[in-house]
Amino acid sequence: MNLIDGKKIAAEMRNKLKVEVDIIKKKFNKVPGLTVILIGDLAPSQIYVRNKEKSAKEIGLKSEIIKYPKDIQEISVLNKIDELNNDATVSGILVQLPLPDHIDKKKIIERINPDKDVDGFHPYNVGNLSSGYESSVPCTPLGCYLLIKKIEPNLSGKKAIVIGRSNLNGKPMAQLLLKENCTVTITHSKTKDLKNECSKGDIVIAAVGIPELVKADWIKKDAIVIDVGINKTDKGIVGDVAFEEVSKVAKALTPVPGGVGPMTIVCLLKNTIECFKKSLK
Ligand code: GUN
Repeated sequence: MNLIDGKKIAAEMRNKLKVEVDIIKKKFNKVPGLTVILIGDLAPSQIYVRNKEKSAKEIGLKSEIIKYPKDIQEISVLNKIDELNNDATVSGILVQLPLPDHIDKKKIIERINPDKDVDGFHPYNVGNLSSGYESSVPCTPLGCYLLIKKIEPNLSGKKAIVIGRSNLNGKPMAQLLLKENCTVTITHSKTKDLKNECSKGDIVIAAVGIPELVKADWIKKDAIVIDVGINKTDKGIVGDVAFEEVSKVAKALTPVPGGVGPMTIVCLLKNTIECFKKSLK
């Protein structure tokens, strides 16, 4: 079994991006900038945002976190987004999810200039991705896609099973694989006989948030298995895939942690640089 070392692949990507940022600085005398808006005090969001900022700074990007208390009014956030949309030093804007209940996620996402939408969540980018046009692509599925391509550069005709239909992961993942001529099945909590669907996959991407749901007898021999799950359990952090047993049948498998997680962050950096380049056009 090939353990897919996301940490190492992400580090290689980060090194290349750092070189690109250095060239941008010399050539344009400008620094691509990422601004993250964090609302409330959810611990996981705080950790994610801190990691994003640290990685951005490591490759020489300008990085800023704007923090609001959880009772901030929606209009204040919308006004801030307007300000960032008009700020030429801000290349990318990310509003960390989830948001407090009184804030309308759709309204917030739609307010971000699609050219600064490093998350690829704006309907304009979602539409472009599904139509096969150039677009910002959500960071986690983009990271999964790059890992899969590293193992198997030609995906044409492969059967891919995506477990989970979220806007963040499952749906954009399916679009990326479809673009590569995979035959894609999106499964979810109401899918009948999930095990049977899964066992047909040359590629399986698990993004449902159920600890160790995917077992060895769900996986075809020599399948590529990508685990997006990060689940807190009594025995520590585990993915959506039963790692030990699946590692005995899969051709390649991502660990948790150290698989998809580091790729998500480096893809955010990549998207920020792409947004900067778009701003030059
Ligand atoms: N919360 C969890 N993952 C993400 C992500 O990729 N983007 C944003 N904005 N919020 C998240």
